[in-house]
Amino acid sequence: MKSQEIRAKFLDFFKSKQHEIVPSAPMVLKNDPTLMFTNSGMAPFKEFFLGNAAPKSTRISDSQKCLRVSGKHNDLEEVGYDTYHHTMFEMLGNWSFGDYFKKEAIAWAWELLTEVYKIDKDILYVTVFEGDEKDGTKMDQEAYDFWKEIIPEDRILMGNKKDNFWEMGEQGPCGPCSEIHVDIRSAEEKAKVDGKSLVNEDHPQVVEIWNLVFMQYNRKANGSLVELPSKHIDTGMGFERLCMVLQGVQSNYDTDCFTPLIREIETITGVRYGKDEQVDIAIRVIADHVRAVGFAIADGQLPSNNGAGYVIRRILRRAIRYGFTFLNQKEAFIYKLADTLAHQMGDAFPEIRKQESLVHNVIKEEEQSFLRTLDQGLLLLDRVIESTEGKVVSGKKAFELYDTFGFPLDLTQLIAREKGYEINEEEFAAGMQAQKDRSRAASSSETGDWILVKQDEVEEFVGYDTLTANVKLTRYRKVSSKKEGDQYQLVFNLTPFYPEGGGQVGDKGAIEAPNGDVIYITNTKKENNVIIHFTKTLPTDLTATFKAVVNDEFRRLSASNHSATHLLHQALRAILGDHVEQKGSLVNPNYLRFDFSHFSKVTSDQIEEIEEFVNARIRENLPLEEKRNIPMDQAVQEGAIALFGEKYGDSVRTIRFGQSMELCGGTHVQNTGDIWYFKIKSEAAVAAGIRRIEAITNMAVGDYFEDIERNYNAVKQLLKNPKDLSKSVTSLQEENAQLKKQIEQLLKDKAKSLKGDLKNQIKEVNGVQFLATKVDLDPGSIKNLMFELGGEFDKLFILFATAPSAEKAMLTCYISKDLANERGYDAGKVVRELGKYIHGGGGGQNFFATAGGKNPGGIPKVLEKAVDYLV
Ligand code: ALA
Repeated sequence: MKSQEIRAKFLDFFKSKQHEIVPSAPMVLKNDPTLMFTNSGMAPFKEFFLGNAAPKSTRISDSQKCLRVSGKHNDLEEVGYDTYHHTMFEMLGNWSFGDYFKKEAIAWAWELLTEVYKIDKDILYVTVFEGDEKDGTKMDQEAYDFWKEIIPEDRILMGNKKDNFWEMGEQGPCGPCSEIHVDIRSAEEKAKVDGKSLVNEDHPQVVEIWNLVFMQYNRKANGSLVELPSKHIDTGMGFERLCMVLQGVQSNYDTDCFTPLIREIETITGVRYGKDEQVDIAIRVIADHVRAVGFAIADGQLPSNNGAGYVIRRILRRAIRYGFTFLNQKEAFIYKLADTLAHQMGDAFPEIRKQESLVHNVIKEEEQSFLRTLDQGLLLLDRVIESTEGKVVSGKKAFELYDTFGFPLDLTQLIAREKGYEINEEEFAAGMQAQKDRSRAASSSETGDWILVKQDEVEEFVGYDTLTANVKLTRYRKVSSKKEGDQYQLVFNLTPFYPEGGGQVGDKGAIEAPNGDVIYITNTKKENNVIIHFTKTLPTDLTATFKAVVNDEFRRLSASNHSATHLLHQALRAILGDHVEQKGSLVNPNYLRFDFSHFSKVTSDQIEEIEEFVNARIRENLPLEEKRNIPMDQAVQEGAIALFGEKYGDSVRTIRFGQSMELCGGTHVQNTGDIWYFKIKSEAAVAAGIRRIEAITNMAVGDYFEDIERNYNAVKQLLKNPKDLSKSVTSLQEENAQLKKQIEQLLKDKAKSLKGDLKNQIKEVNGVQFLATKVDLDPGSIKNLMFELGGEFDKLFILFATAPSAEKAMLTCYISKDLANERGYDAGKVVRELGKYIHGGGGGQNFFATAGGKNPGGIPKVLEKAVDYLV
């Protein structure tokens, strides 16, 4: 059965059980401060589990793109070494939100596996949670009893908290789980060792394929568990592992999820898979990592130097490194897999096909730049090895290579070993630990539990229509961090504060209590669909009705930049072409930043055209046409632009100004005329195929033009208010060029007459034509003069000193080459040593060298000492 069909059968099965089938959410999470990537099928539904929002259906099923490379669930180091862990994988899942529970989840899982996929019952084992004394949780008898009805009891195994209690993070919904394991070993192997004893023992052919989580608790900040008001089901089946079982192969990499990529790697590199373990590991790493990186880029996460972008960059570098070392690939090659990836996954995930050229270009540039770094790092490593006494290279140096060049320890070790050296691993580990401690100390924070003040329905956002509202506090919590100190996060029954999102920064403002308390809101963010207001202090009366007031200027200017961003997007598509897609956006009161796909520099003519396009829309005074809560399909049909990598709900909001129409949750001006004016300040590349425009609107444009005018007036005044400024600057430039020429000629004449004088001063000392004297010439002329004299005398030794200013002295020494070689004279040594008298230093070759210093007072001493070198 092909993987496509396996996926389709899963979704069809749950559709037949009244589940709503939804598309995969993006793999990269944008607005969840607790999680960078979707690490399991349930992550996009966290808000439903937490009760912050209601799903449109209580039964949902999908195939979700997941990435496990950081945080609580991290499989990165296993990838490549075994045959069944991945960075990116698909998780097939079915969910019940307060609907069915253990009975149905168990029965349906069994029905699907054994009747639809027809997996032999005798190769399946299931596990049940055994309970945990510390948590005060009991053995999951309920699940056991349901399983007992469909599988012999000797195939039901007890599992501990580590394997059979699933938690999405340190806090939040969690519960016992039942895992389904499959034993695909040969009959011979099975006869030797009972499969039961291999469950959860990291055996490559006895693996977990499906996890059924019974969400019934909430883990609080203090570690205790409380029962959830309603119970949920969260299941996750490893798609690639299921394919392994159904395709009758022994490794995920032998399924059609990976074989096209592996064949392509073989073609590109000329190596064969299945011949050498180290080569196989490298091929697996690359096949796995290109999926993770490709999908991350398609979801809008470009490799970068921090946050999620850095994780993606590291994954790609890991792949490059394996290719470099074990597949002998010294040139970029991974990017060539983008095509295979798009071809193979494009039906199930259209974004990877649509974004193929971006994936291709970004990976290529990343590869090329890391390979350059590798080259540079290799040179450095050579130097480190050369200066190593003994055979053990400093681990500190190896850590520096890792830290600054991204050189992983194993690569450094490999290269060192080839030259007969070892790395001091303890020192390396100490460096690594110190770095970890530093970053933990910088970022660590403790988040307290929510404290409920008032029971309320889901909080309402009223900030599209008003900037003030009477609000009640419903809950709050304290967050303590080293960096920010103590902060409070407040949630209200309703709020006019816009939470950071869609590139627009969160609102600031205040809440005012009847008792006169004014509490400043420093930022507003959304977490799992809850709007959180950040403050430094808590109000004294928590139950008061507060007047919430958004800083209107902050909001007005942000809105102006946000609406201008939409017009800019429209302009770019109209002027540069339809290939332009938004790749990132920042909107704050001061400026806007817009990243978009485009493959060449935007020319200055195009910039002007774009500005003119946007300003024309501003002058047209287009009114805001906003639609809220319309179905996604309708919005798209009406022509709204949706962004890749953005998670949209079922009902969406559209923003239209004339022909510009986007899905958007941000705040906007009522009329494009409110933007006043739009001005682009810069255009540059941010990555391969991605450009960035920074622009200003509104009052910032006023400031900008005023600034320019001020400068203009100052220049005009300096030039004595000429009628035509540019003509006046041109004539200044011409005059300047003329003067330069004259000076050059004068200097030449001066050098000529000086040369005659100097020639007369040369004396024969010890068979050498010697002169040490102070001259008044620029360095270029001195050099010319010396070489000219050098052509006329063949045993010349001259030292010239100059003092261009009271704090500057220079020495220049010239020695005829043959003389220097015969007698072992060294001009470099001369200036270095004599440089001490002028409080400076320098060097050069044995026939010509210069030194600079700060003490012209030392020149007489220098001239006196020069002759000593003639011995
Ligand atoms: N959320 C569960 C898991 O990831 C199904 O294993």
